[in-house]
Amino acid sequence: MAVYLDHNASTPLDPRVLEAMAPFLRGPYGNPSSAHRHGRAARDAIETARAQMAALVTADPGEVIFTSGGTEANNFAVKGVAAKQQHGRLLYSAIEHPSVLEPLQALARQGRAVETIAVDAEGRVDEAAFQQQLRRSKVALVSCMVANNETGVIQNTTRLAMLARAAGAVFHADAVQALGKIPLDFAASGAQLLSVSSHKIYGPKGAGALIADRALELEPLLHGGGQERGLRGGTENVAAIAGFGAAAELAGQELDRRKTHTRHLRERLETALMRIPGIRIFSAGAIRLPNTVQFAVPSIHSATLLGLLDKKGFAVSSGSACASGSDQASHVLLAMGVPQDVALCAIRVSVGKDNTQNEVDQFVETLCTLMAGLGVTLPSVALS
Ligand SMILES: Cc1ncc(COP(=O)(O)O)c(C=O)c1O
Repeated sequence: MAVYLDHNASTPLDPRVLEAMAPFLRGPYGNPSSAHRHGRAARDAIETARAQMAALVTADPGEVIFTSGGTEANNFAVKGVAAKQQHGRLLYSAIEHPSVLEPLQALARQGRAVETIAVDAEGRVDEAAFQQQLRRSKVALVSCMVANNETGVIQNTTRLAMLARAAGAVFHADAVQALGKIPLDFAASGAQLLSVSSHKIYGPKGAGALIADRALELEPLLHGGGQERGLRGGTENVAAIAGFGAAAELAGQELDRRKTHTRHLRERLETALMRIPGIRIFSAGAIRLPNTVQFAVPSIHSATLLGLLDKKGFAVSSGSACASGSDQASHVLLAMGVPQDVALCAIRVSVGKDNTQNEVDQFVETLCTLMAGLGVTLPSVALS
């Protein structure tokens, strides 16, 4: 049996997306920058994808800059703003993905003033502390994710963007986990930059985008042949971009259905989990993505449980895919004040559009059997 419950790490390629990509792997091979018919066919595919992507996040197609994924979009946003705005502090929430915090820490090593924004025990940005930080001295950039990859907590980025912009800062939102799971409206959000990624929405790996307000000055990420408004040079990955566009269109059409389905599965799972004595569900009191739950069974190290679950055919993770396999506690949970020994027991389940109720029930049953095998006594947690 193989049950995949790790959709925040990556999603399977939707067969309809593969259909949309196939012609560009087999057929039109021209360079999208070439003026002849082969080039024009490739260019058309990219522009169709740009419009599909823009529609999903209520942006203008001219605001979509294709990248190789979410990591590149986040690096681009941070470095692109920092290079243009030489003065002012760079602020980021303490729970950002490494693709935001690592480039910021690299800038800090080069002498730039970089600060974290604290979160509360549920993983929500501490707004009062943030406002104080904004008042202290000039802020060039604020980066805060829309939804956290581990806990699923959704931030009020519209309000945070409003506060940041009123203080004269550029606001960047990492929407990699939010895309396709909740509605996003770039035009109304107040953010000037938004990062998204294809492989989290049943699209191929190796495609993403930075949605960038055209009025915002950005330093190019890759200098080259002038592609992507001269900001990201390099011949485009046409098939992957076409796939990303198709995945975006499907995500828009199916958003409500996916939300309702995954929320139902997540709630069923949480109801069962809450009957396990001693279990802790992180950020249970916060507004979260419909598909995500992160919990800990204190005293059972996540590495142990993940290995045992994998042997039984269940794919889940301890938090971010990058941190999985390491025995470092999640920086997200530590920032929320979770003790290190509890954070080391964290398990993240992220369900997807094709998971079934039966799979979720089998997961709970297997988890309880494994825990009993590890000496944890449990009452019946079976679901009716
Ligand atoms: C919140 C968040 N941002 C950025 C990324 C990086 O995206 P990519 O895998 O497309 O580089 C991830 C991937 O897990 C993520 O969860």
